[in-house]
Amino acid sequence: MQLSDVDLYNAENWVEGVPHEAFRLLREQAPVFWQEVPEADGKGFYAITKYEDLVAISKDPSTYSSWRGSTMIRDLPKEDLENTRTIMLNMDPPQHSKYRKLVSQGFTPRMTAALEPKIRKTTAEILDRVTPLGQCDFVRDIAAELPLIVIAELVGVPLEDRHKVFEWSNKLIGFDDPEFGNTEEVGKLAAAEIWMYANQLAEQRRKDPRDDLVSVLMMGEVDGEKLSEVDFDSFFLLLAVAGNETTRNLISGGMRALLEHPAEWKRLKDDPSLLNPAVEEMLRWVSPVNHFRRTVTRDTELRGQKLREGDKVVIWYPSANRDEDVFPNPMHFDVGRTPNNHVAFGIGEHFCLGANLARLEIRAIFDEVIRRMPDLEFAGPVRRLRSNFINGIKEMPVRFTPSPAVAA
Ligand code: HEM
Repeated sequence: MQLSDVDLYNAENWVEGVPHEAFRLLREQAPVFWQEVPEADGKGFYAITKYEDLVAISKDPSTYSSWRGSTMIRDLPKEDLENTRTIMLNMDPPQHSKYRKLVSQGFTPRMTAALEPKIRKTTAEILDRVTPLGQCDFVRDIAAELPLIVIAELVGVPLEDRHKVFEWSNKLIGFDDPEFGNTEEVGKLAAAEIWMYANQLAEQRRKDPRDDLVSVLMMGEVDGEKLSEVDFDSFFLLLAVAGNETTRNLISGGMRALLEHPAEWKRLKDDPSLLNPAVEEMLRWVSPVNHFRRTVTRDTELRGQKLREGDKVVIWYPSANRDEDVFPNPMHFDVGRTPNNHVAFGIGEHFCLGANLARLEIRAIFDEVIRRMPDLEFAGPVRRLRSNFINGIKEMPVRFTPSPAVAA
Protein backbone atom coordinates (compact mmCIF):
# COMPACT_ATOMS: atom_id res chain seq x y z
CA MET A 1 0.00 0.00 0.00
CA GLN A 2 1.15 3.55 -0.80
CA LEU A 3 0.00 6.94 0.43
CA SER A 4 -1.80 7.52 -2.86
CA ASP A 5 -4.02 4.48 -2.08
CA VAL A 6 -5.19 5.87 1.27
CA ASP A 7 -8.80 7.08 1.51
CA LEU A 8 -10.03 7.27 5.10
CA TYR A 9 -13.26 9.00 4.14
CA ASN A 10 -14.85 6.44 1.83
CA ALA A 11 -16.99 4.19 4.04
CA GLU A 12 -16.38 1.36 1.56
CA ASN A 13 -12.82 1.12 2.91
CA TRP A 14 -14.17 0.36 6.39
CA VAL A 15 -16.45 -2.55 5.50
CA GLU A 16 -13.82 -5.27 6.00
CA GLY A 17 -12.40 -3.68 9.14
CA VAL A 18 -10.57 -0.63 10.44
CA PRO A 19 -7.94 0.25 7.77
CA HIS A 20 -5.00 -0.41 10.11
CA GLU A 21 -2.53 -0.84 7.27
CA ALA A 22 -3.35 2.67 6.02
CA PHE A 23 -3.03 4.04 9.56
CA ARG A 24 0.37 2.40 10.03
CA LEU A 25 1.58 3.96 6.80
CA LEU A 26 0.24 7.38 7.78
CA ARG A 27 1.83 7.28 11.25
CA GLU A 28 5.13 6.39 9.62
CA GLN A 29 5.12 8.62 6.56
CA ALA A 30 2.42 11.29 6.81
CA PRO A 31 1.12 11.87 10.37
CA VAL A 32 -0.61 15.08 9.21
CA PHE A 33 -2.13 13.80 5.98
CA TRP A 34 -4.31 15.77 3.59
CA GLN A 35 -7.49 13.83 2.83
CA GLU A 36 -9.87 14.93 0.08
CA VAL A 37 -13.63 14.64 0.60
CA PRO A 38 -16.34 14.51 -2.11
CA GLU A 39 -17.39 18.05 -2.91
CA ALA A 40 -20.96 17.57 -1.67
CA ASP A 41 -19.64 16.89 1.85
CA GLY A 42 -17.50 20.01 2.08
CA LYS A 43 -13.78 20.70 2.38
CA GLY A 44 -11.04 18.11 2.78
CA PHE A 45 -9.26 17.65 6.11
CA TYR A 46 -5.94 16.87 7.77
CA ALA A 47 -5.98 13.33 9.17
CA ILE A 48 -4.16 13.11 12.51
CA THR A 49 -2.94 9.62 13.34
CA LYS A 50 -0.25 9.94 16.04
CA TYR A 51 -1.19 9.51 19.71
CA GLU A 52 0.80 12.55 20.84
CA ASP A 53 -0.97 14.82 18.33
CA LEU A 54 -4.44 13.51 19.17
CA VAL A 55 -3.76 14.27 22.84
CA ALA A 56 -2.34 17.76 22.15
CA ILE A 57 -5.29 18.70 19.90
CA SER A 58 -7.91 17.38 22.34
CA LYS A 59 -6.32 19.39 25.15
CA ASP A 60 -6.16 22.67 23.22
CA PRO A 61 -9.75 23.70 22.45
CA SER A 62 -8.79 27.34 21.98
CA THR A 63 -6.77 26.38 18.86
CA TYR A 64 -8.80 23.31 17.86
CA SER A 65 -12.48 24.06 18.26
CA SER A 66 -15.36 21.57 18.60
CA TRP A 67 -17.84 24.41 18.14
CA ARG A 68 -16.79 26.19 14.95
CA GLY A 69 -17.57 23.38 12.55
CA SER A 70 -19.00 20.81 15.02
CA THR A 71 -17.26 17.46 15.65
CA MET A 72 -18.52 15.74 12.48
CA ILE A 73 -16.42 15.71 9.30
CA ARG A 74 -19.19 16.74 6.94
CA ASP A 75 -19.64 20.50 6.68
CA LEU A 76 -23.18 21.38 7.69
CA PRO A 77 -25.57 24.02 6.37
CA LYS A 78 -25.75 27.00 8.74
CA GLU A 79 -29.03 26.04 10.37
CA ASP A 80 -27.96 22.44 11.04
CA LEU A 81 -24.64 23.67 12.42
CA GLU A 82 -26.46 25.94 14.83
CA ASN A 83 -28.64 23.05 15.99
CA THR A 84 -25.67 20.75 16.66
CA ARG A 85 -24.04 23.48 18.73
CA THR A 86 -26.72 22.99 21.38
CA ILE A 87 -25.05 19.63 22.12
CA MET A 88 -22.19 19.86 24.66
CA LEU A 89 -19.99 17.63 22.50
CA ASN A 90 -19.94 20.53 20.03
CA MET A 91 -19.16 23.33 22.48
CA ASP A 92 -15.90 24.98 23.60
CA PRO A 93 -14.96 26.48 26.95
CA PRO A 94 -16.18 28.52 28.74
CA GLN A 95 -19.67 27.53 27.52
CA HIS A 96 -18.75 23.85 27.55
CA SER A 97 -17.36 23.98 31.09
CA LYS A 98 -20.65 25.38 32.36
CA TYR A 99 -22.70 22.59 30.78
CA ARG A 100 -20.23 19.94 31.79
CA LYS A 101 -20.46 21.07 35.41
CA LEU A 102 -24.23 20.89 35.27
CA VAL A 103 -24.64 17.47 33.68
CA SER A 104 -21.77 16.01 35.71
CA GLN A 105 -24.16 16.24 38.64
CA GLY A 106 -25.93 13.28 37.07
CA PHE A 107 -22.71 11.29 36.52
CA THR A 108 -21.03 11.42 39.90
CA PRO A 109 -19.19 8.28 41.05
CA ARG A 110 -21.97 7.83 43.59
CA MET A 111 -24.72 7.89 40.95
CA THR A 112 -22.75 5.54 38.71
CA ALA A 113 -21.99 3.12 41.55
CA ALA A 114 -25.64 3.16 42.54
CA LEU A 115 -26.47 1.64 39.16
CA GLU A 116 -24.19 -1.35 39.66
CA PRO A 117 -26.71 -3.74 41.31
CA LYS A 118 -29.20 -2.95 38.55
CA ILE A 119 -26.52 -3.53 35.90
CA ARG A 120 -25.55 -6.90 37.44
CA LYS A 121 -29.18 -8.03 37.68
CA THR A 122 -30.01 -6.92 34.14
CA THR A 123 -26.93 -8.68 32.78
CA ALA A 124 -27.97 -11.93 34.47
CA GLU A 125 -31.46 -11.59 32.98
CA ILE A 126 -30.11 -10.89 29.49
CA LEU A 127 -28.02 -14.06 29.65
CA ASP A 128 -30.95 -16.02 31.06
CA ARG A 129 -32.87 -15.35 27.87
CA VAL A 130 -30.16 -16.88 25.68
CA THR A 131 -28.22 -19.53 27.68
CA PRO A 132 -30.98 -22.17 27.31
CA LEU A 133 -30.94 -21.68 23.51
CA GLY A 134 -27.33 -22.72 22.80
CA GLN A 135 -27.05 -20.06 20.09
CA CYS A 136 -27.87 -16.42 19.46
CA ASP A 137 -26.85 -13.25 17.67
CA PHE A 138 -24.30 -11.82 20.10
CA VAL A 139 -24.96 -8.26 18.91
CA ARG A 140 -28.72 -8.05 19.13
CA ASP A 141 -29.35 -10.54 21.94
CA ILE A 142 -26.47 -9.67 24.28
CA ALA A 143 -24.35 -6.61 23.42
CA ALA A 144 -27.18 -4.23 22.44
CA GLU A 145 -29.46 -4.96 25.35
CA LEU A 146 -27.48 -3.78 28.39
CA PRO A 147 -26.49 -0.28 27.18
CA LEU A 148 -30.09 0.33 26.12
CA ILE A 149 -31.54 -0.72 29.42
CA VAL A 150 -28.92 1.24 31.37
CA ILE A 151 -29.56 4.45 29.43
CA ALA A 152 -33.28 3.89 29.75
CA GLU A 153 -32.83 3.43 33.49
CA LEU A 154 -30.48 6.40 33.81
CA VAL A 155 -32.72 8.89 32.08
CA GLY A 156 -35.93 7.25 33.18
CA VAL A 157 -37.27 6.05 29.80
CA PRO A 158 -39.97 3.50 30.54
CA LEU A 159 -38.77 0.02 29.55
CA GLU A 160 -41.54 -0.44 27.01
CA ASP A 161 -40.17 2.53 25.02
CA ARG A 162 -36.52 1.50 24.97
CA HIS A 163 -36.64 -0.18 21.57
CA LYS A 164 -37.88 3.03 20.03
CA VAL A 165 -34.69 4.72 21.25
CA PHE A 166 -32.69 1.80 19.80
CA GLU A 167 -34.26 2.20 16.35
CA TRP A 168 -33.82 5.95 16.38
CA SER A 169 -30.16 5.80 17.35
CA ASN A 170 -29.52 3.17 14.65
CA LYS A 171 -31.01 5.52 12.11
CA LEU A 172 -29.02 8.45 13.38
CA ILE A 173 -25.66 6.67 13.32
CA GLY A 174 -26.08 4.35 10.36
CA PHE A 175 -26.53 7.01 7.70
CA ASP A 176 -23.74 5.49 5.61
CA ASP A 177 -25.16 1.99 5.76
CA PRO A 178 -27.80 1.15 3.15
CA GLU A 179 -29.19 -1.64 5.32
CA PHE A 180 -30.72 0.85 7.73
CA GLY A 181 -32.46 2.37 4.68
CA ASN A 182 -30.70 5.52 5.58
CA THR A 183 -30.42 8.87 4.00
CA GLU A 184 -29.73 12.12 5.75
CA GLU A 185 -33.49 12.68 5.73
CA VAL A 186 -34.09 9.48 7.71
CA GLY A 187 -31.42 10.59 10.19
CA LYS A 188 -33.02 13.99 10.62
CA LEU A 189 -36.43 12.44 11.15
CA ALA A 190 -35.02 10.12 13.81
CA ALA A 191 -33.40 13.08 15.57
CA ALA A 192 -36.71 14.92 15.50
CA GLU A 193 -38.47 11.90 16.99
CA ILE A 194 -35.93 11.59 19.82
CA TRP A 195 -36.28 15.31 20.36
CA MET A 196 -40.05 15.12 20.72
CA TYR A 197 -39.80 12.13 22.97
CA ALA A 198 -37.31 13.93 25.24
CA ASN A 199 -39.67 16.89 25.43
CA GLN A 200 -42.51 14.77 26.70
CA LEU A 201 -40.28 13.07 29.22
CA ALA A 202 -38.96 16.38 30.56
CA GLU A 203 -42.49 17.68 30.84
CA GLN A 204 -43.50 14.68 32.93
CA ARG A 205 -40.46 14.98 35.24
CA ARG A 206 -40.98 18.66 35.77
CA LYS A 207 -44.46 17.90 37.02
CA ASP A 208 -43.52 14.75 38.87
CA PRO A 209 -39.78 14.61 39.77
CA ARG A 210 -38.21 11.21 40.49
CA ASP A 211 -34.83 9.87 41.46
CA ASP A 212 -33.40 9.76 37.92
CA LEU A 213 -31.01 11.74 35.76
CA VAL A 214 -33.78 13.62 33.95
CA SER A 215 -35.11 14.89 37.25
CA VAL A 216 -31.61 15.82 38.48
CA LEU A 217 -30.99 17.76 35.26
CA MET A 218 -34.37 19.46 35.34
CA MET A 219 -33.72 20.65 38.91
CA GLY A 220 -29.95 21.30 38.62
CA GLU A 221 -28.47 24.79 38.33
CA VAL A 222 -25.10 26.34 37.55
CA ASP A 223 -24.59 30.01 38.44
CA GLY A 224 -28.30 30.25 39.07
CA GLU A 225 -29.15 28.97 35.57
CA LYS A 226 -31.20 25.90 34.79
CA LEU A 227 -30.99 23.80 31.62
CA SER A 228 -33.31 25.17 28.99
CA GLU A 229 -35.67 22.87 27.10
CA VAL A 230 -33.44 22.86 24.03
CA ASP A 231 -30.39 22.05 26.15
CA PHE A 232 -32.14 19.16 27.78
CA ASP A 233 -33.39 17.68 24.51
CA SER A 234 -29.91 17.95 23.00
CA PHE A 235 -28.35 16.22 25.96
CA PHE A 236 -30.89 13.42 25.77
CA LEU A 237 -30.12 12.98 22.07
CA LEU A 238 -26.40 12.88 22.83
CA LEU A 239 -26.88 10.22 25.51
CA ALA A 240 -29.14 8.11 23.31
CA VAL A 241 -26.40 7.91 20.70
CA ALA A 242 -23.19 8.23 22.73
CA GLY A 243 -24.19 5.73 25.36
CA ASN A 244 -25.66 3.02 23.14
CA GLU A 245 -23.72 2.44 19.94
CA THR A 246 -20.32 2.84 21.55
CA THR A 247 -20.82 0.42 24.42
CA ARG A 248 -22.66 -2.10 22.24
CA ASN A 249 -19.86 -2.16 19.70
CA LEU A 250 -17.18 -2.40 22.36
CA ILE A 251 -18.90 -5.47 23.81
CA SER A 252 -19.35 -7.13 20.40
CA GLY A 253 -15.91 -6.12 19.17
CA GLY A 254 -14.28 -7.20 22.44
CA MET A 255 -15.94 -10.61 22.23
CA ARG A 256 -14.83 -10.93 18.65
CA ALA A 257 -11.23 -10.06 19.59
CA LEU A 258 -11.27 -12.74 22.31
CA LEU A 259 -12.64 -15.38 19.92
CA GLU A 260 -10.05 -14.47 17.31
CA HIS A 261 -7.26 -14.77 19.91
CA PRO A 262 -8.06 -18.12 21.55
CA ALA A 263 -4.93 -18.12 23.71
CA GLU A 264 -5.92 -14.75 25.21
CA TRP A 265 -9.55 -15.91 25.63
CA LYS A 266 -8.30 -18.97 27.52
CA ARG A 267 -5.90 -16.86 29.59
CA LEU A 268 -8.77 -14.63 30.73
CA LYS A 269 -11.05 -17.59 31.54
CA ASP A 270 -8.27 -19.27 33.55
CA ASP A 271 -7.57 -16.08 35.50
CA PRO A 272 -10.64 -13.82 35.88
CA SER A 273 -8.51 -11.34 37.88
CA LEU A 274 -7.36 -10.23 34.41
CA LEU A 275 -10.84 -8.85 33.71
CA ASN A 276 -9.92 -5.19 34.36
CA PRO A 277 -6.83 -5.07 32.12
CA ALA A 278 -8.73 -7.17 29.54
CA VAL A 279 -11.51 -4.56 29.39
CA GLU A 280 -8.92 -1.79 28.88
CA GLU A 281 -7.27 -3.83 26.14
CA MET A 282 -10.64 -4.35 24.43
CA LEU A 283 -11.14 -0.58 24.53
CA ARG A 284 -7.71 0.01 22.99
CA TRP A 285 -8.16 -2.74 20.41
CA VAL A 286 -11.73 -1.97 19.34
CA SER A 287 -11.82 1.85 19.77
CA PRO A 288 -15.56 1.99 19.01
CA VAL A 289 -15.42 5.68 18.03
CA ASN A 290 -13.22 6.12 14.98
CA HIS A 291 -12.89 9.87 14.83
CA PHE A 292 -13.94 13.33 15.87
CA ARG A 293 -13.28 16.60 14.09
CA ARG A 294 -11.90 19.93 15.27
CA THR A 295 -11.67 23.21 13.35
CA VAL A 296 -8.54 25.38 13.54
CA THR A 297 -9.23 28.81 15.10
CA ARG A 298 -5.91 30.54 14.28
CA ASP A 299 -2.97 29.91 11.99
CA THR A 300 -0.66 27.38 13.56
CA GLU A 301 1.74 24.55 12.75
CA LEU A 302 1.71 20.82 13.47
CA ARG A 303 4.77 18.63 12.73
CA GLY A 304 5.95 21.26 10.28
CA GLN A 305 2.59 21.40 8.47
CA LYS A 306 1.10 24.90 8.35
CA LEU A 307 -2.56 24.91 9.40
CA ARG A 308 -4.73 27.88 8.59
CA GLU A 309 -7.70 29.28 10.47
CA GLY A 310 -10.78 27.40 9.30
CA ASP A 311 -8.91 24.21 8.35
CA LYS A 312 -10.39 20.92 9.53
CA VAL A 313 -8.40 18.35 11.46
CA VAL A 314 -9.77 14.88 12.15
CA ILE A 315 -8.33 12.85 15.03
CA TRP A 316 -8.36 9.05 14.58
CA TYR A 317 -8.66 7.11 17.84
CA PRO A 318 -7.97 3.58 16.49
CA SER A 319 -4.70 4.81 15.03
CA ALA A 320 -3.55 6.58 18.21
CA ASN A 321 -4.39 3.40 20.11
CA ARG A 322 -1.95 1.41 17.99
CA ASP A 323 0.83 3.97 17.92
CA GLU A 324 4.19 2.16 18.07
CA ASP A 325 5.70 5.07 20.03
CA VAL A 326 3.30 4.48 22.92
CA PHE A 327 2.28 0.81 22.93
CA PRO A 328 4.94 -1.91 22.72
CA ASN A 329 3.87 -4.50 20.14
CA PRO A 330 0.65 -2.56 19.38
CA MET A 331 -0.79 -5.09 16.90
CA HIS A 332 -0.80 -7.75 19.61
CA PHE A 333 -4.03 -8.23 21.60
CA ASP A 334 -2.83 -8.78 25.18
CA VAL A 335 -5.45 -9.14 27.93
CA GLY A 336 -2.80 -8.43 30.57
CA ARG A 337 -1.37 -5.27 28.98
CA THR A 338 -0.13 -2.76 31.59
CA PRO A 339 0.27 0.14 31.42
CA ASN A 340 -2.49 0.80 28.91
CA ASN A 341 -3.13 4.51 28.49
CA HIS A 342 -5.48 4.15 25.54
CA VAL A 343 -7.57 7.08 24.33
CA ALA A 344 -10.74 5.20 23.36
CA PHE A 345 -12.72 7.57 25.63
CA GLY A 346 -10.94 10.66 24.31
CA ILE A 347 -8.93 12.98 26.54
CA GLY A 348 -9.09 16.58 27.77
CA GLU A 349 -12.16 18.80 27.94
CA HIS A 350 -14.58 16.35 26.38
CA PHE A 351 -13.28 13.15 28.00
CA CYS A 352 -16.18 10.71 27.87
CA LEU A 353 -18.72 11.50 30.53
CA GLY A 354 -19.95 7.90 30.53
CA ALA A 355 -16.55 6.18 30.76
CA ASN A 356 -17.06 4.72 34.23
CA LEU A 357 -20.58 3.66 33.44
CA ALA A 358 -19.42 1.97 30.23
CA ARG A 359 -16.63 0.16 32.10
CA LEU A 360 -19.13 -1.10 34.64
CA GLU A 361 -21.37 -2.48 31.89
CA ILE A 362 -18.54 -4.09 29.97
CA ARG A 363 -17.16 -5.79 33.10
CA ALA A 364 -20.60 -7.07 34.08
CA ILE A 365 -21.16 -8.66 30.67
CA PHE A 366 -17.78 -10.36 30.38
CA ASP A 367 -17.83 -11.52 33.98
CA GLU A 368 -21.13 -13.27 33.28
CA VAL A 369 -20.18 -14.58 29.82
CA ILE A 370 -16.93 -16.10 31.15
CA ARG A 371 -18.79 -17.98 33.86
CA ARG A 372 -21.86 -19.05 31.94
CA MET A 373 -20.76 -19.40 28.31
CA PRO A 374 -17.12 -20.49 28.53
CA ASP A 375 -17.22 -22.49 25.28
CA LEU A 376 -18.81 -19.67 23.24
CA GLU A 377 -17.62 -19.73 19.60
CA PHE A 378 -18.48 -18.23 16.19
CA ALA A 379 -21.45 -19.88 14.43
CA GLY A 380 -21.50 -17.80 11.23
CA PRO A 381 -19.94 -14.82 9.52
CA VAL A 382 -19.53 -11.50 11.34
CA ARG A 383 -21.22 -8.63 9.50
CA ARG A 384 -19.81 -5.14 9.97
CA LEU A 385 -21.38 -1.70 9.87
CA ARG A 386 -20.45 0.34 6.81
CA SER A 387 -19.21 3.48 8.53
CA ASN A 388 -16.06 5.56 8.91
CA PHE A 389 -17.38 6.89 12.24
CA ILE A 390 -18.32 3.91 14.38
CA ASN A 391 -16.34 0.66 14.43
CA GLY A 392 -19.49 -1.41 14.45
CA ILE A 393 -20.68 -5.00 14.11
CA LYS A 394 -24.22 -5.58 12.91
CA GLU A 395 -24.45 -9.31 13.41
CA MET A 396 -22.30 -11.99 15.06
CA PRO A 397 -23.88 -15.46 15.30
CA VAL A 398 -22.44 -17.53 18.16
CA ARG A 399 -23.10 -20.94 19.75
CA PHE A 400 -22.36 -22.47 23.16
CA THR A 401 -23.44 -25.38 25.34
CA PRO A 402 -26.97 -24.60 26.53
CA SER A 403 -27.50 -24.06 30.26
CA PRO A 404 -30.58 -23.20 32.33
CA ALA A 405 -31.58 -19.69 33.36
CA VAL A 406 -30.38 -18.73 36.84
CA ALA A 407 -31.56 -15.22 37.73
CA ALA A 408 -35.31 -15.78 37.77
C1 HEM B 1 -17.23 2.06 25.17
C2 HEM B 1 -18.07 3.05 25.25
C3 HEM B 1 -17.78 4.50 24.94
C4 HEM B 1 -16.79 5.07 24.16
C5 HEM B 1 -15.68 4.36 23.39
C6 HEM B 1 -17.00 6.51 24.19
C7 HEM B 1 -16.17 7.43 23.55
C8 HEM B 1 -16.24 8.81 23.71
C9 HEM B 1 -15.28 9.76 23.19
C10 HEM B 1 -14.05 9.40 22.34
C11 HEM B 1 -15.65 11.01 23.59
C12 HEM B 1 -14.87 12.32 23.37
C13 HEM B 1 -15.42 13.26 22.32
C14 HEM B 1 -14.51 14.41 21.96
O1 HEM B 1 -13.39 14.56 22.44
O2 HEM B 1 -14.95 15.23 21.11
C15 HEM B 1 -16.90 10.85 24.35
C16 HEM B 1 -17.65 11.89 24.88
C17 HEM B 1 -18.87 11.69 25.51
N1 HEM B 1 -19.45 10.48 25.89
FE1 HEM B 1 -18.71 8.65 25.53
N2 HEM B 1 -18.09 6.79 24.97
C18 HEM B 1 -18.60 5.59 25.45
C19 HEM B 1 -19.70 5.42 26.29
C20 HEM B 1 -20.49 6.43 26.76
C21 HEM B 1 -21.64 6.27 27.63
C22 HEM B 1 -22.13 4.94 28.20
C23 HEM B 1 -22.17 7.52 27.81
C24 HEM B 1 -23.37 7.97 28.60
C25 HEM B 1 -24.12 7.25 29.34
C26 HEM B 1 -21.34 8.46 27.09
C27 HEM B 1 -21.54 9.83 27.02
C28 HEM B 1 -20.66 10.75 26.50
C29 HEM B 1 -20.88 12.19 26.54
C30 HEM B 1 -22.08 12.91 27.14
C31 HEM B 1 -19.76 12.79 25.90
C32 HEM B 1 -19.51 14.29 25.67
C33 HEM B 1 -18.71 14.86 26.80
C34 HEM B 1 -18.38 16.31 26.60
O3 HEM B 1 -18.63 16.90 25.53
O4 HEM B 1 -17.84 16.90 27.55
N3 HEM B 1 -20.33 7.77 26.46
N4 HEM B 1 -17.22 9.50 24.43
